[in-house]
Amino acid sequence: MWMINELAYAGPEHLDPAFVAGYDRKQGHPDPAPDIAEFRDHGLEPGASILDLAAGTGRFAIAAAETFAVTAADVSPAMLSYLRAHAPAGLKVTQGGFLSYTGGPFDGVHTRNGLHQLPDFFKGIALQRIADLLRPGGILRVRDLIYDFHPAEAPAVFDEWFAGAVTDPAVGYTADDYAEHIRTEYSTYRWLFEPLLEQAGFQIVSVAYERRLYGAYTCVKRP
Ligand SMILES: C[S@@+](CC[C@H](N)C(=O)[O-])C[C@H]1O[C@@H](n2cnc3c(N)ncnc32)[C@H](O)[C@@H]1O
Repeated sequence: MWMINELAYAGPEHLDPAFVAGYDRKQGHPDPAPDIAEFRDHGLEPGASILDLAAGTGRFAIAAAETFAVTAADVSPAMLSYLRAHAPAGLKVTQGGFLSYTGGPFDGVHTRNGLHQLPDFFKGIALQRIADLLRPGGILRVRDLIYDFHPAEAPAVFDEWFAGAVTDPAVGYTADDYAEHIRTEYSTYRWLFEPLLEQAGFQIVSVAYERRLYGAYTCVKRP
């Protein structure tokens, strides 16, 4: 009765095959190597099992599958169809979301720029479910747009963010894209996100922020 429909929160653009076809270009083809290295640096050996949740077009999953046994899950049929068309033989692709995927236990979970689709209450449930999908000592690598500032600082931080935006929406994110993100998606504050991680049973072992907006966390599931 109270569980949300994940597709209704997935972001309409992620359900649009035309947007999905241009997604990697708009993203600027981010390099997944540092995230793969982070799993290795925190003890995951080649062949370890990793779940990539909200995998999108598979930027991380496709590269990580060269080293690890990767399962890529997403809720968007358009993303899944793109990913299936580009997946190497060893990569498992499946429909499933933060609030619905079942499987595991995995040695690692990776998720990038997906959790902000969920309001904080459901983010808490998602993080608890991720902890349940990991073996004790398993590694969570999470990147997302997270606000590393006090509410009073929002106008100044956002002004600077918008000033660095591109003007062509095909090759990057415009100020309109950022403003729409702020209005319609559920990026939260760092000082709320970190207690959510801790309440779900994670120990944060590394954290880095860019421009007080982009957080990258490595966490260990407590035994
Ligand atoms: C901004 S894209 C990020 C994709 C990829 N992780 C990346 O970094 O390029 C957000 C992705 O989250 C997916 N998504 C949205 N809500 C989801 C949910 N509840 N469970 C799983 N995936 C979800 C979307 O379909 C989309 O593929």
